[in-house]
Amino acid sequence: MDKLVIEGGTRLAGEVEVSGAKNSALPVLCAAILSAEPLTVTNVPRLQDVATTAKLLTTMGASVERAADHTMVLDCARLDRLEAPYDLVRTMRASILVLGPMVARFGRARVSLPGGCAIGQRPVDLHIKGLQALGAEISIEHGYLEARVERPGGGTRLRGAPIFMDLVSVTGTENLMMAATLAEGTTVIQNAAREPEVVELAHCLNAMGARISGAGESEVTIEGVERLHRADWRIMPDRIEAGTFLAAAAATRGELLMRGANPSHLTAVLDKLREAGARIEVSGDTIALSMPTRARAVNLRTAPYPGFATDMQAQLMALDCVAEGTSTIVETIFENRFMHALEMKRMGAQIEIDGNTAVVTGVPQLDGAAVMATDLRASASLIIAALAARGETVIDRIYHLDRGYEAIERKLSGLGAKIRRTR
Ligand code: UD1
Repeated sequence: MDKLVIEGGTRLAGEVEVSGAKNSALPVLCAAILSAEPLTVTNVPRLQDVATTAKLLTTMGASVERAADHTMVLDCARLDRLEAPYDLVRTMRASILVLGPMVARFGRARVSLPGGCAIGQRPVDLHIKGLQALGAEISIEHGYLEARVERPGGGTRLRGAPIFMDLVSVTGTENLMMAATLAEGTTVIQNAAREPEVVELAHCLNAMGARISGAGESEVTIEGVERLHRADWRIMPDRIEAGTFLAAAAATRGELLMRGANPSHLTAVLDKLREAGARIEVSGDTIALSMPTRARAVNLRTAPYPGFATDMQAQLMALDCVAEGTSTIVETIFENRFMHALEMKRMGAQIEIDGNTAVVTGVPQLDGAAVMATDLRASASLIIAALAARGETVIDRIYHLDRGYEAIERKLSGLGAKIRRTR
């Protein structure tokens, strides 16, 4: 299994370019299922999760071509296997995003239940309830979710309906929004997720001929149409990748010029980094950060967008580990998302955990150690801790990292980090 070896203690300095967003690419690629005409997607990041989605679509009968380095052409004219098998879903929970589009276009779908994952239970009850409200019948058989639409007078089209989401769910909102695009009549999703990735998906769907309004607000209205058509779509910059590099630069007291970002998606993170003492200047799609002194500890509480993203919690914890003072971090989205803290403690971090609250007392210096990555963002946070530490850190199980960060070693090496991959 691949490992990363990092020799810490170097200040990151230089320029870095942000890649396309994983969490935007995955739903957009799945949106191709909704149409019999091709969808051309540019700025697609080269990531394991993208490869898994492409494999899932090809298994279903789609044609997926990598037209150029970051361009994909998806043609779902002839889907003949309306199923997401366990082997693929268990490696990537976001596979559930094929459910809504399949039911909407074909009136049936079979998707393996995702099961638990390292950061929590992550049920899909809201996806199911929403599709039921739109007229799908759903049963669970042999670990698979079977969905079917049978209208009384014949026909397999979903029916628009009001949907209230008990909890704010990103992929839940995306799945239901996609399903509703082809329903008969109007759907109103209340308590919808407001994440930029949801907004981008709505714009992509509208480019395909859907009629969605209100995305980015908590009430989204979708007027169903009969079919969607061909479109071209460019994936937005990855705000979590951007935030990760900014946090890494801050933790190493470095100096970074980031290009190709969307700073308006990063307000909560930039705010915290400024509070920690970083000097940040934003101009168009570039963000310049410098950290002249040791960081000050910052408290944070994760929340749905525009609150502080749970996907940035681990990286900011790494910064707090080497900051001056004590901070309190509250994780409100997932019930088991502090596993990185146990690994950071092996590097000398002082962290006390009580339920969903972590209290971090900064130390002047972490020490390199052998640690294990438990999930995608935990891997990123361990890299940050390792870059700021004295001596060598070996991070095991970094396959998580390849799911969500494009060329991370190359990008970090370009900033002066001493990082290499071994087996
Ligand atoms: C998405 C992101 C992930 C991010 C998360 C929260 C993608 C591909 N992944 O995941 O990176 O960490 O949003 O911002 O975009 N829940 C239920 N029932 C459901 C659905 C969700 O109880 O049917 C709960 C979850 O367990 C969790 C909370 O709702 O506690 C939010 O989860 P959700 O927003 O759905 O996360 P994902 O969409 O899976």
